[in-house]
Amino acid sequence: MYICLCHGVTDTQIENAVDNGLETMKQLKDELKVASQCGKCCQCTKKVLNRKLMQIAEAQPSVA
Ligand code: FES
Repeated sequence: MYICLCHGVTDTQIENAVDNGLETMKQLKDELKVASQCGKCCQCTKKVLNRKLMQIAEAQPSVA
């Protein structure tokens, strides 16, 4: 699904970027240009970013 129409960025591209180590909106902006033009995709990008970071955190073995 397209998240950023200005730059044609999909949720899959954002998730792949997070898989490859990106963790912040600034990093996503620098790498994919997402949220760098009209800004309408900012909230949606944050949701995809946070969801993906949570998935990665939950997949980590707990240190107990
Ligand atoms: S839709 Fe992403 S910057 Fe416009």
